Amino acid sequence: MTVLERPDGLAADRLVDADIYALPGMEQGFHDAWKRLQDASPDIVWTDRNEGHWIALRGELVAEILADHERFSSRVIILPRSAGEEHSGLIPTTIDPPEHRWYRKQLNENLSLKFVRDLEPGIRKLAGELIDGFVDDGEVEFIEHYSAILPIRIFMDLVDLPAGDAPRLKYLTDMMTNPGSEMTMAEARDEMAAYLLPVVTRRMENPGEDMISRMVGRPFEGRSMTAEEALVLTLQVLVAGMDTVVNFLGFAMLHLAGDEEMRRRLIADPDLAPRAVAELFRRYGSVTIARIVRQDMEYHGIHLRAGDLVACPTVVHGVDERENEDPMSVDIDRARPRHSAFGQGPHRCPGQELARSEVAITLQEWLRRIPDFTVANASELRQAGGINAHIDRLVLRWDG
Ligand code: HEM
Repeated sequence: MTVLERPDGLAADRLVDADIYALPGMEQGFHDAWKRLQDASPDIVWTDRNEGHWIALRGELVAEILADHERFSSRVIILPRSAGEEHSGLIPTTIDPPEHRWYRKQLNENLSLKFVRDLEPGIRKLAGELIDGFVDDGEVEFIEHYSAILPIRIFMDLVDLPAGDAPRLKYLTDMMTNPGSEMTMAEARDEMAAYLLPVVTRRMENPGEDMISRMVGRPFEGRSMTAEEALVLTLQVLVAGMDTVVNFLGFAMLHLAGDEEMRRRLIADPDLAPRAVAELFRRYGSVTIARIVRQDMEYHGIHLRAGDLVACPTVVHGVDERENEDPMSVDIDRARPRHSAFGQGPHRCPGQELARSEVAITLQEWLRRIPDFTVANASELRQAGGINAHIDRLVLRWDG
């Protein structure tokens, strides 16, 4: 474990005592906690927590740092640094351009808007079936019974794997993102790899129309992907596209429960759902990643040293009043929501169309069946920070 030393000559107001995964008041409101830190601090600050690192607190900086791979590398994107170094080598997340481009082009093709449009009837059917399963109960714990199921089942469709394997893959993904007592991250990854490798090999020999086949079944720009590369990439899509959607759906439904006006407008005109989703992503950015500084430089009034890590909480972009007027209000009519919820630059999320679609369809299918609902466990709601912020349990109630 390398603890970075506090920079020499650091101005007093640049030093904050902030654990980015547990800011004061985060349990009651993840986004509000970040907003308070943003309001109280200079644009970029240093904390000794989590082995010592900078935190970018304004939209302009977060967007610039994420996009500028020449000055800020993705070799380490997770804090603390010791954990980030363990994750180094993931394709394509921790690879910088130009090597990154070849993998990304293939991912982009396989997660394009057209590709997502083809998946939408299946997403809608699944969303409807899940809600129909509990609509008569008048109450549901939304995270376990809806949001944790939808993205894994869609992933199974994407790569053409049997739906019956979904619970085990979901469990292994959980163990990889939240390693606990039952399995270490490495054990979970090994079991997942043992499951996926024969699948990848079969698709190389006998490609179908699914995402893995399309990546491994034919050469791309003169070179074929190896089974190992395809495996690592598939794993990354699974891990990146699971928890993010599960968690964001929680924040979106928490908001919708308290926003009668939005519910009313979406019921009157379900085609407004994509606009509502764009605004919700602006307001509820939930991913916090980092970049590692490539060389010493002066940057927005501070001296960055080669090897320093800079945390980029995507939430601070959307809630920055320099970027969005009245940023804490959710306004479905906002002309151009500006945010970094899906990152920026070369690593900008290739799954964002799929994510937007999963959330928009959820809003539509939910409101079609459950026009009015409240949060039943409001006083016990616990939000948690992390690479991916989330709500532990969200119990929604309606007249069944
Ligand atoms: C709520 C939903 C989602 C959010 C908020 C989100 C957010 C992000 C962010 C912020 C990044 C950039 C990471 C960086 O710059 O280091 C990213 C990258 C990525 N996301 Fe998403 N994501 C979501 C859903 C998805 C889905 C559904 C998929 C796939 C099916 C996916 C696949 C990926 C992959 C593979 C990367 C790595 C891209 C690269 O390194 O080039 N994401 N995501």
